[in-house]
Amino acid sequence: MTENRTLTLTNENSQAICELPVLQGTIGPDVIDVQALYKQTGLFTYDPGFTSTASCTSTITYIDGEEGILLYRGYLIEELAERCTFLEVCHLLLHGELPTPESLKDFENNITMHTMVHDQLTNFFKGFRRDAHPMAIMVGVVGALSAFYHDALDIKSKKDRDLSAIRLIAKVPTIVAMCYKYSIGLPFMYPNNKLSYVENFMRMMFATPCDDYVQNPVLVNALERILILHADHEQNASTSTVRLAGSSGANPYACITAGIACLWGAAHGGANEAVLNMLKEIGDVSNIPKFIERAKDKNDPFRLMGFGHRVYKNYDPRAKLMRATCYDVLAELKLEDDPMFKLALELERFALEDPYFIAKKLYPNVDFYSGIVLHALGIPTNMFTAIFAMGRTIGWIAHWDEMIADPEQRIGRPRQLYRGSAQRDIPSQHR
Ligand code: CMC
Repeated sequence: MTENRTLTLTNENSQAICELPVLQGTIGPDVIDVQALYKQTGLFTYDPGFTSTASCTSTITYIDGEEGILLYRGYLIEELAERCTFLEVCHLLLHGELPTPESLKDFENNITMHTMVHDQLTNFFKGFRRDAHPMAIMVGVVGALSAFYHDALDIKSKKDRDLSAIRLIAKVPTIVAMCYKYSIGLPFMYPNNKLSYVENFMRMMFATPCDDYVQNPVLVNALERILILHADHEQNASTSTVRLAGSSGANPYACITAGIACLWGAAHGGANEAVLNMLKEIGDVSNIPKFIERAKDKNDPFRLMGFGHRVYKNYDPRAKLMRATCYDVLAELKLEDDPMFKLALELERFALEDPYFIAKKLYPNVDFYSGIVLHALGIPTNMFTAIFAMGRTIGWIAHWDEMIADPEQRIGRPRQLYRGSAQRDIPSQHR
């Protein structure tokens, strides 16, 4: 990060009141460093939704929303999705480099050896109703992991942080599959060490102890791709939540749980679930024009779920990749003529041709297609966000680890523009 120029802030009389450094990253917009602003001027900045605020420096992920570019540690998402496994991407995000064949073997082995959960953790599931939302269970059970690993909770120790990272990457899929098995009243499946990360998850989700489970490589590849595409996305709401929670020194399991809670919302990770619910609500291709009109009506809160993005004002590169996977999966499962999928593809066509969506650059986002793929894989709608959480866990941990290692790290403490009452007296009847 270099500091090559300054920005001078003047008052209404054109007198300089503050000189602010302008910082330059490797790529992307320059950043005005406002750290000295309050001290020098008594002013705060105001940026609800953080649309113009960089909250940290990071070396993990870069997004150019105008051009539709996404890089993990400098590599294009398109190339990573075509050429790497999810665990190679995890290594890249966590350690900064793609693994050598030897380090990949160690990394995979390390993850595999941590996929089982403590047997007592199964008791936590029993406390939930069978119809509990999987994200509610995830918040409870992943949070509970904090109580199981006191051996490695020194966040200042890199060794402890690495072990926590491995434990979380390894155990979250086991917990996600347990959420599903619990909801349908089937026994939990133990992990199988002979399988790849994704195959193991598919088996824990769909196998029963009574039968052999046959993997379908097209479906395994589809889920591998979903995980890679969701692995990280820079300072999104849940990652920022993880960083903020971690800035106080909270343990990694608590911080990742905070991320899971944030991801649950429909404007973020809940969107893929919302896409399927919306398709059910639309019901039939003939109703699409009516719903498109509703999405455009300012007085109607209805929005087309799976369209638009805060950062991408061009086609989301992840959506392009997910779209291709979506068509592969539908062809493999011979679902192209299924009414739900026909409806989804017709909605995509309508929105892409509609002047309102074109003018506002509201393209289908990754969750539009991942929702369709997950539905085709047989994953119930209310599990979609938990799958997103499984992919994003690595991103959350990589950011948490980067933050803790950053010597400039301080507790996150935003300020506010106060518009409540000024100081006043309590009415006399309360005395
Ligand atoms: N349907 C209809 N109109 C929309 C939509 C939509 N899905 N998204 C945005 N708009 C309109 C919005 O009404 C606004 O219009 P105007 O300028 O006339 O007020 C304009 O487009 C800009 O929208 P915004 O809400 O100011 O944009 P934002 O950056 O605050 O919101 C968003 C981004 C993703 C929350 C929003 O597009 C949305 O609600 N999309 C649907 C939910 C969704 O698919 N979320 C998943 C995001 S991708 C997954 C991830 O990375 O987490």
